[in-house]
Amino acid sequence: MSVQPIRIRDIAAHAGADVHIRGWVVHHRSSGKIRFLELRDGSGYVQCVMGKNDVAPDVFAAFDDVSLEASVEVVGTVRSDPRSPGGFELGLKHLRVVGRSAEYPISPKEHGVGFLMDERHLWLRSRRQHAMLRVRAEVMRGIREYLDGQDYLPVDAPILTPNACEGTTTLFELGYFERKAYLSQSGQLYNEATAMAFGKVYCFGPTFRAEKSKTRRHLMEFWMVEPEAAFLDLDGDMALAEGMVEHVVQRVLARCRDDLATLERDVTKLESIRAPFPRISYDEAVEIIRKAGGTIEWGEDFGGDEETLLSQAFDKPVLVHRYPAQVKAFYMKRDPERPEVALCVDMIAPEGYGEIVGGGCREESLEALETRIREHGLPLETFKWFLDLRRYGSVPHAGFGLGVERTVAWITGIPHVRETIPFPRLLDRMYP
Ligand code: 4AD
Ligand code: MG
Repeated sequence: MSVQPIRIRDIAAHAGADVHIRGWVVHHRSSGKIRFLELRDGSGYVQCVMGKNDVAPDVFAAFDDVSLEASVEVVGTVRSDPRSPGGFELGLKHLRVVGRSAEYPISPKEHGVGFLMDERHLWLRSRRQHAMLRVRAEVMRGIREYLDGQDYLPVDAPILTPNACEGTTTLFELGYFERKAYLSQSGQLYNEATAMAFGKVYCFGPTFRAEKSKTRRHLMEFWMVEPEAAFLDLDGDMALAEGMVEHVVQRVLARCRDDLATLERDVTKLESIRAPFPRISYDEAVEIIRKAGGTIEWGEDFGGDEETLLSQAFDKPVLVHRYPAQVKAFYMKRDPERPEVALCVDMIAPEGYGEIVGGGCREESLEALETRIREHGLPLETFKWFLDLRRYGSVPHAGFGLGVERTVAWITGIPHVRETIPFPRLLDRMYP
């Protein structure tokens, strides 16, 4: 096979020429002296046709080893064919089976989600999963593009840590030689150190929560992007989150139209995602939830039901600020005018997708922070370094974390986060 290999995506540039393509068989059939194959190489799909009289007998016989998901390499002539999905088909000259395929477990018929999750390593070969993970990749690119454009420096936070950032009840604990370590729940505390070094930073990586929640919004391992900036206030923090989410949605709309169509997403709902987003206080949110039939009392945190009721009142993401300090993490700065509320913000996605962003202003006073750490029953000695940030040139600062999977679930319009990450870790699943 002397012709250079190409990706199916680039086939139009080779109309009339011979090309070499390597991929997997998604469909095959025989009809008299003609053999049909549909190939997938990860960049696209192409239909291939082989006539008995057009190829050597051994090439024609190679088709006998072709089955669903066998890997093959082919050489053929690119022919324009308006009836083909991509506008082209391949008239085959050579066919070689690289790796045969046994009875493939996933057939085109309907399968249950439990079965498909057990076969996740193979399920990733399907069109729907391609579309989903391509949108995920575009969301991640959009996030980096936006923050890089705003002069935020990517600085990584560690995954192994001695500190609890988001409470001690959801920590994954592991042995670190003779000591204890935890998987990071959030890179925020380290971001606060690097923000004092570089001014504007973000970390972007996997985070872990041992949350005994079996909901459509919870993963044990999820990806979070966390910007943090010195001298940023709550309004600036909200503007940053709003700008980033708008940018990401509009970028996915511009670049992933085909994928959104595969997922049957109603894109008109995404087209209207333009800044400004509504900004309401927790107090106002409680009113809206109650009017919609919710039974929340002031002082309680919102659960999934409350977030759903709230999101139904808006067709854009809504920024809810100033929650009661008692339901928020130890590092949150209190509102000087109302110490019972924190200077924090959550962004609730539309259409019932729940909280996608959580963040706010950080306590910058050494004394207040020490008191909070004690009140939350956290060990002061592991926070010495964190308190140093308040000892040496403390400044007002703020940031937030956006969960990639919940954002992708919303943008793609799928009900459960489990399909938005290649290999989901759920309460009842760690395989494959
Ligand atoms: O609201 P959270 O817990 O905020 C923090 O961790 C802050 N320290 C971030 C910061 O200010 N730098 O989590 C932030 C976001 C949530 O809004 C949600 O999108 C996502 O992370 N998230 C989860 N996503 C999937 N599964 C889970 N179990 C999640 N927990 C949080
Ligand atoms: Mg939160």
